Amino acid sequence: MYSFKNDYSEGAHPRILNALVESNLEQEEGYGEDRYSLKAIEFIKERMGRNDVDIHLVSGGTQTNLLAISAFLRPHEAAIAASTGHILIHETGAIEATGHKVLSIEAEDGKLTPEHVKTVLDAHTDEHMVKPKLVYISNSTEIGSIYNKTELQQLRNFCHENNLILYMDGARLGSALCSAENDLQLRDLPELVDAFYIGGTKNGALIGEALVICRDSLKEDFRFHMKQKGAMLAKGRILGVQFLELFRDNLFFELASHANKMAEKLRDELGKENIQFLTHSPSNQIFPILPNALITKLQDKYAFHIWEKVDSEHSAIRLVTSWATKEEAVKAFIADFK
Ligand SMILES: Cc1ncc(COP(=O)(O)O)c(C=O)c1O
Repeated sequence: MYSFKNDYSEGAHPRILNALVESNLEQEEGYGEDRYSLKAIEFIKERMGRNDVDIHLVSGGTQTNLLAISAFLRPHEAAIAASTGHILIHETGAIEATGHKVLSIEAEDGKLTPEHVKTVLDAHTDEHMVKPKLVYISNSTEIGSIYNKTELQQLRNFCHENNLILYMDGARLGSALCSAENDLQLRDLPELVDAFYIGGTKNGALIGEALVICRDSLKEDFRFHMKQKGAMLAKGRILGVQFLELFRDNLFFELASHANKMAEKLRDELGKENIQFLTHSPSNQIFPILPNALITKLQDKYAFHIWEKVDSEHSAIRLVTSWATKEEAVKAFIADFK
């Protein structure tokens, strides 16, 4: 059985694992003040050409989202997300459990536009309702689409004109930035969003995400907040060692490019067979629509999610490739499909 279920089926890239082994017996400061974390943060800042952002290394995506959103909002304030948004559907109400409602709006390709946000604002008029304050987006999105620079600029402008915080979940930011259709760079992001995170877990790290806080007013006391929410690891070095390895050279981008290349192969080959896709997703997640009988046969040899029923005889499946996906597995899948 070969799994195309997700991009965290494997452990860590060998270089990251080696770095953890090699640093194992060194004595380091705790709670993210070790030399590895400090150096990793320095490298990420250098990549962005920005020394004025705050970076915190956190263990996982849900943890990062709930930490950031609950720190940025006042008690009566709410987040806005696309109806497919991860915080809305797949985080067990983690944001709501911090006291903040998540307001959802239908967005066909999983991407929010100023018009979507305006619709939510227009429906929330006074103090008898929660106050929409933070716009949550992810790049790539839950359905594999990506934001281009113009779309982000428009969203950023709208958010700033309306005194909203723009927060980007980057669980799969590597894949988005390395997409053939992408026109954004990591260094563009501090200008475009108020905070975002760089996902490590789904891009070759054992665990870890790097939260980047760009807007000054959101930075204060964040470490207090982390500690109180149980997110400050005594052995924070584990995150530092990994991010240092990912950003000491191009490893982060190389791993994401590999994942994208494998998805592209699947997309191209299925496309040649006239297979339609549920959504345009130029990243490492694709959603081909297949006959149910064929899906059942493929399930004998491959693991993947059945994403949604399309009609009585067809369903969209989700195929996710990763930094570790083997080209032979992609070829075998295509051969079996044929
Ligand atoms: C876009 C996005 N955000 C956040 C998460 C949550 O990450 P974790 O499972 O590490 O909590 C995921 C996980 O699938 C995700 O896809």
